Amino acid sequence: MRDTGVGRVYLVGAGPGDPGLLTVRGLQCLREADALVYDRLANDRLLAEARPDAERIYVGKEPDAHTLTQDEICQLLVRLGLEGKTVCRLKGGDPYIFGRGGEEAEALHAHGIPFEVVPGVTAAAGVSAYTGIPLTHREHASTCVLAAGYLRDGSVDLDWEALARPRQTVVIYMGLHGLPVVSAKLVEHGLAPDTPAAIVQQGTTAQQRVVVGTLAQLPRLAAEAALRPPTLILLGEVVRLHRTLAWFAPQRVGAAQAADQAATGSSS
Ligand SMILES: C[S@@+](CC[C@H](N)C(=O)[O-])C[C@H]1O[C@@H](n2cnc3c(N)ncnc32)[C@H](O)[C@@H]1O
Repeated sequence: MRDTGVGRVYLVGAGPGDPGLLTVRGLQCLREADALVYDRLANDRLLAEARPDAERIYVGKEPDAHTLTQDEICQLLVRLGLEGKTVCRLKGGDPYIFGRGGEEAEALHAHGIPFEVVPGVTAAAGVSAYTGIPLTHREHASTCVLAAGYLRDGSVDLDWEALARPRQTVVIYMGLHGLPVVSAKLVEHGLAPDTPAAIVQQGTTAQQRVVVGTLAQLPRLAAEAALRPPTLILLGEVVRLHRTLAWFAPQRVGAAQAADQAATGSSS
């Protein structure tokens, strides 16, 4: 920690779960920080990379229970910065994709606190790679749309016509609870009910679960599988490639981690 002056805040994308997906720059920032501010989606094995004397501050963000509000998180980052600390704000995925990193950067800018944004592997990219579902493909999809599918007052507010276009992959974040609405609205706006569809829980981790079906079937399949957040929904012809391109075996990762822990005596 510096004795005088304003500190610096790194807004670091931690990736979607697999700690190996943190960037080299992100790891440098994590190791340099006096204070670490992290939420639910940050992997425990990443936290172990911080300096032992670094202050660790959990700011929560369960779907229905926020430990701190977004305003309070912004105020916390500002306060730590004004105290002269080097802060690593570790965020799931990429800070600027449904991560509210923009609001945190604006708060820092408003208080004259220097900051750096380190991009991360967003859930769409990580899940795509680890499930063998390319987001674009010359034969199947020339556009890809990322949308937020959370349910508010029983409905989901999206541009359904834009999402129901052909040759397009649609990726929906935070869409588990709104899935029945999303499915019905897309069909109502012209997307074929038999459009290939997948929903992936805890992608890129040892707990990854993939449920595949059609757009019309997906709400039922997700309910039957009792999926829980975080989940990502992928819609479009590219989902068919999962059958041939899925290379990631979560159970192997689990076994490798268990062997790792047995060897080091650590738990994660
Ligand atoms: C608040 S958003 C943050 C997104 C993050 N900034 C990013 O770029 O991935 C949280 C949502 O991202 C998605 N998500 C994040 N990690 C995921 C994972 N490992 N598997 C599936 N979905 C994930 C889920 O839809 C989750 O509800």
